[in-house]
Amino acid sequence: MDKLLIEGGARLSGEIAISGAKNAALPILCAALLTREPVTFTNVPQLKDIGTLLKLIGQMGVKVAREGDTVTLDASALDNPVAPYEMVKTMRASILVLGPLVARCGEARVSLPGGCAIGARPVDQHIKGLQAMGAQVTVEHGYVHAQVPRLRGARLFTDMVTVTGTENLMMAACLADGETIIENAAREPEVVDLANCLVAMGARISGAGTDVIRIRGVESLSGTTHRIMPDRIETGTYLCAAAATGGEIRLSGTSSCYLDSVVDKLMDAGCDIVSERDAIRLKAPERLTSVSIRTAPYPAFPTDMQAQFMAINAVAGGTAVIRETIFENRFMHAVELQRLGADIRIDGNTAVVQGVAQLQGATVMATDLRASASLVIAGLVAEGETTIERIYHLDRGYEHLEEKLAALGARVRRLA
Ligand code: EPU
Repeated sequence: MDKLLIEGGARLSGEIAISGAKNAALPILCAALLTREPVTFTNVPQLKDIGTLLKLIGQMGVKVAREGDTVTLDASALDNPVAPYEMVKTMRASILVLGPLVARCGEARVSLPGGCAIGARPVDQHIKGLQAMGAQVTVEHGYVHAQVPRLRGARLFTDMVTVTGTENLMMAACLADGETIIENAAREPEVVDLANCLVAMGARISGAGTDVIRIRGVESLSGTTHRIMPDRIETGTYLCAAAATGGEIRLSGTSSCYLDSVVDKLMDAGCDIVSERDAIRLKAPERLTSVSIRTAPYPAFPTDMQAQFMAINAVAGGTAVIRETIFENRFMHAVELQRLGADIRIDGNTAVVQGVAQLQGATVMATDLRASASLVIAGLVAEGETTIERIYHLDRGYEHLEEKLAALGARVRRLA
């Protein structure tokens, strides 16, 4: 199984381009299930999760054409609205087919995703929303089975802010009879990108980006071409990598407007950050100052950047308190960072990180996507060699990781 070998100590410098956002591409590709006309997407990142979703959609009878970062989906012959366990178990975001399939086909059978490394992650809110829109939903033999001749508009309220829950229900509501109002909606930029794509397909949506989204259902949607937004978490991850190594980098094809909370914290840590129209520049100090964070739904600090900030705090001057409020088990990277010499104490959903002068390279294990990213950052600053095992987690979310790091001067190598 592939491993990543990092020789620490290089200051990152130079420029790289940021890829399209995984967490925008996944729901947006599912939006193509809502129409009989072909839809073309550009800036689609080449990632394992995207490959998994395209395979899942392909086995439903959708024609998939992929060339470079362009994907065209033609769901005119969609005839198998089923997402089998074998595919869903490798990627929880597969649940995003549920809303579009019920809306378009009047029926869907989607495997329950099950738990994962960062928490239980139930999908009860997705189901509750579809039921409120008139779907008959049963959960049997590990599958969600939803049926309804046509969904009807409803007032929906989710118990907590859920990103894919909001996306699923927004897509379903596009073809429902009447108006749907989603209250307590997720405000993440990826929700807005999805709404923009749906509107270009003929959907009538207002309020995306606020916590109340209104969708007036239409009879059918049409094809369009949509460019996927830049990946704000990839952007933040490279900013952290440069910050930790005392580096100076420019990231193009992205924008700080999706990343205010992260940029703020990096500035508090002592970095100079300049926002350009389609790029961000960062210059790091000799040593970072510790910064405390508390994760919460957008626009607050993203849980998907928590692990990377644990890594930078591990080598910063001072003590940081990190509170994770979204997922109940998202500190798996802490024990691996400790193997590299980090001083971290965990108490429930709180981690206290006392910065140390130097980490030391060791062999560590990646447990999930963002945990692996934190290990990469730690490996870049550790003395000597760090080997990261199970890097298939990284391949799920970071396009051309070794190439991009190498372009910034890092010494990284993939070992088969
Ligand atoms: N939740 C429920 N019931 C539901 C839905 C959510 O209890 O029906 C809970 C979850 O267990 C969690 C909280 O609500 O405790 C928020 O979860 P959310 O539904 O927002 O997460 P998600 O939609 O499954 C997306 C991203 C994650 C990101 C989270 C939070 C995608 C494909 N995934 O997941 O991304 O961490 O939002 O921002 O958009 C990643 O990229 O590494 C990643 C895990």
